[in-house]
Amino acid sequence: MGSMELSPGDQSSIKQAVAALKLGQLVAFPTETVYGLGADAANPEALQRLYNVKGRPASHPVIVHLSSLAQLRDWASTISPAAFKLAETFWPGPLTLILPKAQHVLDQVTGGQTSVGLRIPSHPLALALLREFSGGVAAPSANKFGRLSATCAEDVAAELGADVAVVLDGGPCDLGIESTIVDFSQGSPQILRPGMILAEHIEAIIGPVARAAGASTPSGGKDLSPLPPRVPGGLPSHYAPLTPLRLVESQSLEREIEYWRQAGKSVCVLSFSQATLPGVIWLAASREPFEYARHLYRNLRMLDQKAQDLILVESPPGSGEWSGIADRLARASVKESRTKEVQNE
Ligand code: TXA
Ligand code: MG
Repeated sequence: MGSMELSPGDQSSIKQAVAALKLGQLVAFPTETVYGLGADAANPEALQRLYNVKGRPASHPVIVHLSSLAQLRDWASTISPAAFKLAETFWPGPLTLILPKAQHVLDQVTGGQTSVGLRIPSHPLALALLREFSGGVAAPSANKFGRLSATCAEDVAAELGADVAVVLDGGPCDLGIESTIVDFSQGSPQILRPGMILAEHIEAIIGPVARAAGASTPSGGKDLSPLPPRVPGGLPSHYAPLTPLRLVESQSLEREIEYWRQAGKSVCVLSFSQATLPGVIWLAASREPFEYARHLYRNLRMLDQKAQDLILVESPPGSGEWSGIADRLARASVKESRTKEVQNE
């Protein structure tokens, strides 16, 4: 979709946003996954501002967003045939490729590594912004470091407020969880972060890919092993609400609710079925993974705002199409030790 199809209002917001990027300011924009907090990827001061506003440690790399395949060579030094096939197949779309970086790519983008994360998003406003800006836009999710990603313009404003020069409002995000990340910088391809483009979709194009430890967690996420710190999304306690979140198997949900309530804790619940229990805030989520993912962060933000002692989330199914969701929920959930603290308070 070209900017021709955008409303005059959107076109003028895009002009404003491009001007802000050129001044080294920050711009929030919608993508099909989550909102991004963008900065000119070639401007060190802008990148510094980005890290400050996000509260993100300097060693953590950010994804550079592009508008066309032709730009790939400006940012990556080596593009293997398999990586190029994935780019051609899934871009614009919810896929990030980690590739050996081109020489000029700044350390603030790569976290000092020799690789760079690249993606062409498909949201029309994102594409229009990227085309008009013409350079690469470094954009992590538009949230404070370690917190839930924002999936609508209101959540971006609530989270980042005055630190952002322009917030482009593209309505709620279509997919709702972050892109699938495939790493091509270490030899054979590896999925670092599962998303709504599934391992099987990728394997159908390029053959077998490895899954990073913890990148695909079983239902319940109990065997979450820590990833190297160079992938902050891979750290446990990422994508987290402020209220402790516990994943609970379907068959023990009722018992868990009862247990915590008897321990004097207020609980709210995100489950696949609706139930009415007096005094329990209850959200019913879809049994369809795309629908579930679309509303996941909004649902968790809503429950977080209820200021209960605990959020109990019914574990998602263990099948592939739920792997991105299961991964985010596992990372949002409290570790056993913290749960014990809650228990013993
Ligand atoms: O869907 C998405 O990917 C969203 C939208 C805004 O595009 N962006 C996003 O960015 O989720 P962020 O910064 O929240 O997560 C990016 C992930 C991080 O876990 C980061 O470590 C990883 O990508 N990443 C970026 N560059 C990398 C690199 N060179 N090597 C390894 N991991 C990298
Ligand atoms: Mg993020």
